[in-house]
This record gives sequence, structure tokens and C-alpha cells, in this order.
Amino acid sequence: MYANASSTNSAHPTASTSRSAWESPGSAAFDLRSDVVTTPTAAMLTAISQTTLLDDVFLEDPTTTSLENLVSSLTGHPAALLVLSGTMGNQVALRTHLGAPPHAVLCDARSHIIQYEAGGVASLCGALVQPIVPANGKYITAEEVRRHAVVSDDVHACPTRIISLENTLNGTIMPLAEVREIAAWARQHGIIVHMDGARLWEAVVAGAGSLQDYCKEVDSLSLCFSKGLGAPIGSIIVGSEKFIKRARWIRKSIGGGLRQAGVVAAPARVAVEETYLSGKLKQSHLNAKKIAKIWQDLGGKMMYPVDTNMVWLNLSPHGVETNKFITLAEQYGLRVMGERLVVHYQISKEAIARLEQLFTDVLTGKAGDAKKSTVNIDPDDMKLPHVEWAYR
Ligand SMILES: Cc1ncc(COP(=O)(O)O)c(C=O)c1O
Repeated sequence: MYANASSTNSAHPTASTSRSAWESPGSAAFDLRSDVVTTPTAAMLTAISQTTLLDDVFLEDPTTTSLENLVSSLTGHPAALLVLSGTMGNQVALRTHLGAPPHAVLCDARSHIIQYEAGGVASLCGALVQPIVPANGKYITAEEVRRHAVVSDDVHACPTRIISLENTLNGTIMPLAEVREIAAWARQHGIIVHMDGARLWEAVVAGAGSLQDYCKEVDSLSLCFSKGLGAPIGSIIVGSEKFIKRARWIRKSIGGGLRQAGVVAAPARVAVEETYLSGKLKQSHLNAKKIAKIWQDLGGKMMYPVDTNMVWLNLSPHGVETNKFITLAEQYGLRVMGERLVVHYQISKEAIARLEQLFTDVLTGKAGDAKKSTVNIDPDDMKLPHVEWAYR
């Protein structure tokens, strides 16, 4: 999400230059707006060139099927289904679980499924949303779920049919113990639990629990390949055989049945193996902590603690306006979209050095030698959508 700023990517070659865009992170090494900006790697391109090219709507493509099998075994769920995006994964999962209204989906008020998925929960599922603003400012608790869920067959009620959890949310981990308590309560009341695990990889790498620990608590889960793992395209949903059979049907109904799907599956598999399984995310978490420390050592205030790879600076106590920060960052050759810095695995040491200069400039007014006077962006294009509670 949020990757809507127009930019001239000078580090990426145009058709007229000979160097392939796949060979290095290019401008992604200095781009902290989101992990969706990660540049796919040369190994991913090789995987695309070597993929099988059979039809996945006919269930004939071995590269796609083997990726689905891999993720199904990593998560401990019986079946998996490749989808084109995190949004498609969440919306297909929700639509698959739900029958006819009246029905409701309960979730954190900041959830991607309700804030950034174009109203799909309403238009595709006809569901009421029951949003909770978490009192702890970090994640919804089992106690809040029990208090807000509607468990009733009264004619006036709109019963909660799904609890949708997001992990991580704003880079914050939802602890395994909380997920377990929510899931146990949901099971007692026949409520389905879905998890938007676009960045669950990050929670696992941070040591919050294993992928299987989290996955066994939920009925369905979506995971993204194209965020922190760096694939060009793709997400996956997991669940029971019955769930995935129906999800395949729902995916088809919204045009998500892919023909030569190996082109998507092959680089996604490299992303899982090359970035996640081989341990590249760990360093990005260390880098995030290092960046937060640089900021705090200079007296900077934080909005949230750093759990994974997101650093949330709190600019307002320092009297720094978001657009000014964005413009200043650009003068140091860094792209940011507001207070949230996403330290994906391709962020370079040089970017961290420039961040130190930027922070010093922001907090003390002392300019660093990496500073240039001109910028080529409109800071308004780079701002996070202004949602009050997102900044709590
Ligand atoms: C938590 C979360 N879920 C789902 C998505 C949707 O992913 P996509 O942009 O691939 O549709 C995003 C996007 O950033 C996200 O942050």
C-alpha cells in the first residue's frame, strides 16, 4: 500500500540502457516508504525464465502447485492458493468463508481489509464491519474481542461470523498468546478466524512464535510475497482443502484465475527461499532498531516501539511538519512518506548513514554533507493518508 508516488527512478535503466533492472536494488536501497518498493532480484528473473508454463486454471502448472504445496507445509495448513495480491487474498478468503447476510467481520479499526481494500468487505461480502480501536494502541485484545463481538440470533442483531486479525499491523506484533485466546474463544462460539498475515513473516523472524504456531490458530491466512520478501507479484492464502476448493471458485469469479501462473509462482518461491528461509529479514530488524536508536539518541520521540522492521517517528512534539520532513529527506536522497520508515531488507548502509544526517538536521538544524538543495517530488504525493487513530 501507499506506493502511489510518481517518480523518475534514475537508478533503474530504461530500455535504451544495457544494465538489467533486476541486478541491483537500485533506488529501493534509499526508499523507506514501504516494503512494496523492494526490487525483484536476478535470481527471480532466472526463475521466471526457467519456469513451467502450463495452465493453472486447468490445475496443470507444476511450479504453481509446488509453491502452493511448499507454503501449505510451511504453515501446516492442508491447502494453499496463489493469488495476485494481498488484497485479493484477504477478500477471496472473506468471501469464501461467508454465506449470505446478515453477517459481520470484526477487526482492528486500522485493518488493511477495511481501510485500504476499496470497500471490498462491503461490496464483495455485503458484510457489516465491527471495528475496534485497541485501547493499548497496538493490537486488539481477547477481552476487547469478547466485548465487541455479536454472538446472537436475535432478529435485530448482525452476528459476527469472522474475526479478522492483522499481524503485523503497522509493524507491531500481535502476541501469540493473544491470538490463542481470541481463537479459542472464537471456536467456542463458532466464529471463523482469518489472519491478514501479509507481514506475518516479520513477526516470526522477530521471534514472536513460529509460522506454524500462529497458523494453527486460524482458519485461514493470507501471506504476501511482494512486500518484505521482495517478489514482483503475488500472495497466497491457506486453509482446509474445502476452503481452498471454494476459494479457487471465488478467485475465478473476480478474474483471478491465472493461465501461465508459473511466471508469478517462480519468483515468489525464490522470495520465500532467498529472503525468508535464508534469513535476510533479520538484518532489516536490526537495522530498524539501529535507526530508532540514532533518532532517540538525538532526543527524538517515537510513536511506537520497534517490534519488526518499521520505525515510527513522532515528529509533532519536535514541531516538525510531515511535509517538511518528506522534503528534507528527499534532499538527502531518501524517500519517505511520513513518520513511518519501513526498513526492508534492501535498505543500504549508505541510506542509514544519510538518515543519521537527516535526523540531525531535523532535530538540531545542522545540515549534513549529503544534503542537496533541490527535490524532485511533491511532498503531498508522499504523505500517508491522514487517519487520526493511525497515529495513536
Ligand atoms: C497488512 C496488509 N495487508 C494486505 C495488503 C494488500 O496487499 P496488496 O497491496 O498486494 O494488495 C497490504 C499492502 O500493503 C498490507 O499492508
